[in-house]
Amino acid sequence: MKQDIHAYLAEFDDIPGTRVFTAARARQGYWLNQFAMSLMKPENRERWKAGERAYLDQWQLSEAQKQAVLDRDYNRMLELGGNIYFLSKIFSTDGIPFAEACSTMTDMTFPEYRQMMLEGGRSPEGNRSLKGGTDMARITAGVGSSHVPLLGVAVDQGKTGDDYFGPIFKGYEWTKAWEAEQKPDVVVLVYNDHASAFDANIIPTFAIGCGERYKPADEGWGPRPVPDVEGHADLAWHIAQSLILDDFDMTIINEMTVDHGLTVPLSMMFGQPEKWPVKVIPLAVNVVTYPVPSGNRCWVLGEAIRRAVESFPEDLNVQVWGTGGMSHQLQGPRAGLLNREWDNRFMDLLIGDSQEARTIPHIEYLRETGSEGIEMVMWLIMRGALGPKTRCLHRHYHIPCSNTAIGHLVLEPLE
Ligand SMILES: [Fe+2]
Repeated sequence: MKQDIHAYLAEFDDIPGTRVFTAARARQGYWLNQFAMSLMKPENRERWKAGERAYLDQWQLSEAQKQAVLDRDYNRMLELGGNIYFLSKIFSTDGIPFAEACSTMTDMTFPEYRQMMLEGGRSPEGNRSLKGGTDMARITAGVGSSHVPLLGVAVDQGKTGDDYFGPIFKGYEWTKAWEAEQKPDVVVLVYNDHASAFDANIIPTFAIGCGERYKPADEGWGPRPVPDVEGHADLAWHIAQSLILDDFDMTIINEMTVDHGLTVPLSMMFGQPEKWPVKVIPLAVNVVTYPVPSGNRCWVLGEAIRRAVESFPEDLNVQVWGTGGMSHQLQGPRAGLLNREWDNRFMDLLIGDSQEARTIPHIEYLRETGSEGIEMVMWLIMRGALGPKTRCLHRHYHIPCSNTAIGHLVLEPLE
């Protein structure tokens, strides 16, 4: 039976993490591969080692191909038409064994890769097809937390164990240990911008960060001394597209700074590392200028985020964090309002299969929890993303921190 050449070639693109050396790639990579082959001659190796750039410039390579060679970025070379048998002449000239060179194309270090090979190699299970059989991203847990700026100050100034902050931070110790075990790959971090990245000019209701990295914002007292936040642009763009097709008109942000609303929860969960151990997709919600999104809209957005994450063909452990609140009022003669009973009832409603929290009207948050207590609607995005039913893994509540009540909840989806 004659094969349809288009169907035949299309199947190659369905193999995860693999670039088949088709005729198109052979043409694209002709000079790249010929350059690599030239390193089989000792006199050429000498010239190459004496000046890589000058040697490369003698070949008809595209600038992108030259850069990939100079960076020893083998995945990029493959993408640009390189073939591994030819490219091996480059790492052989560098004195690097084949297995080590292969490890640079994976997400493993060489020792990790070598260990995987000793244990029987990479399994074809889950690695056969992008359409079927590939492990998909999944939401494994939800975290709710206050994001009070004073908590960031306590971390940055080493005061987390003192009489005032000690009881607050004690309630996060369980979560720090749990996060270290869970090792999430990505956190979709729902927070509100406190007039830092967005000024009065632009007020997006829902904005998703699709950039590669974000610097901490200078909120008037200099940026927090915390690492830059690394994004997950591929997943973020996928979520953005999926949400827009799901009728959420997201604002897409490529560049922005992130304020305490995002960095304080990271500090609470991970302490003071050199580098944050997760990639973060910032999801900023307007809870400043009314009308802010309804609780129900937030919940439904969470459900749509779940669908988006679960359709991303990569084995990623994703958590959704809802931050802000709990009860607090920072303005006017009623400043300082706290409502322990209401806050705890709200947390109760997020555990199990209750749908009641999504119908709480804005006026109830405002009356009962203070003008800034409305930040709690953001927890409903996290709750919606966990599906019909949840189980509580950890819970903490403390009054006061600055002008607010501190609330913290770790939830696991049950279905
Ligand atoms: Fe806030």
